[in-house]
Amino acid sequence: MEFNGKVVLITGAAGEIGEVTAKLFSELGAKLSLIDLDRGGLRETVTRLGLGEGEYITVPADVSREDEVKNYVRKTVEAFGRIDVFFNNAGIEGKYALIKDNPAENLDRVLNVNLKGVFFGLKHVIPVMMERKSGSIINTSSVAGLGGFPGLSPYVASKHAVIGLTKTAALEYAGTGVRVNAICPAPINTRMMRSVEKGASPDDPQSAQSRFTHMIPMGRYGEPEEVANLVLFLASDLASYINGGVYTVDGGMKAT
Ligand SMILES: NC(=O)c1ccc[n+]([C@@H]2O[C@H](COP(=O)([O-])OP(=O)(O)OC[C@H]3O[C@@H](n4cnc5c(N)ncnc54)[C@H](O)[C@@H]3O)[C@@H](O)[C@H]2O)c1
Repeated sequence: MEFNGKVVLITGAAGEIGEVTAKLFSELGAKLSLIDLDRGGLRETVTRLGLGEGEYITVPADVSREDEVKNYVRKTVEAFGRIDVFFNNAGIEGKYALIKDNPAENLDRVLNVNLKGVFFGLKHVIPVMMERKSGSIINTSSVAGLGGFPGLSPYVASKHAVIGLTKTAALEYAGTGVRVNAICPAPINTRMMRSVEKGASPDDPQSAQSRFTHMIPMGRYGEPEEVANLVLFLASDLASYINGGVYTVDGGMKAT
């Protein structure tokens, strides 16, 4: 795989999965447009990756706001003239609570970021890709998009919705050269799982981690690189006939 001269747009780029994916794309020659709500985090990502001038832009944005999504797409096209790959990845876990105790604001917040954010991204990136009759979009769902997970109902609902959006977008644009796929990671070693573990067992997060690990046949969480490798494959020309698919990267979790 190589991405020389390709333009890769990544949301949630200051997060761990986003940053590692950016790193691998950059090592294979891509130019990066890095989007995140966290301005400082974006600066730190650029420093850690050692990106040079002309190789990247950063656009701080809240993906749940359509005007800000329009703006990050516009800035990317202004800087690089095209978008070849879109990793539609920003997401939040929300508050850990059973449905009966779950505040309405938590539902709104999670759906706004995880569902509307992904929708607005598709809406504004697809026309740019259609102009060149080419593009690959990878939406980040989760194993929580394929089954229930007690305590995370808004997150689970939003990640199921990402799969519905992926399939619909793939069908709507199948004749245009734009491919749209979804990935479903199991628990991955990032800040997000530390937060979920603490939500599930506030006094003993380690016990929650052991419980979650036991649900994974390979007996461990995944690493961000293992997710990034799947994203790169789906983004590449090797995946030219792969469209509307839903791909687990889960140590066998969904095979049970
Ligand atoms: N870590 C896991 O176990 C796991 C498993 C399955 C799926 N996922 C999904 O992978 C994606 C990345 O997660 P991660 O583990 O890297 O988590 P993370 O918290 O490290 O990264 C998420 C990033 O998204 C950004 N973000 C949050 N809200 C935003 C908004 N409104 N606008 C723009 N950016 C925003 C955050 O600032 C953060 O940098 C998420 O969609 C998550 O749901 C993660």
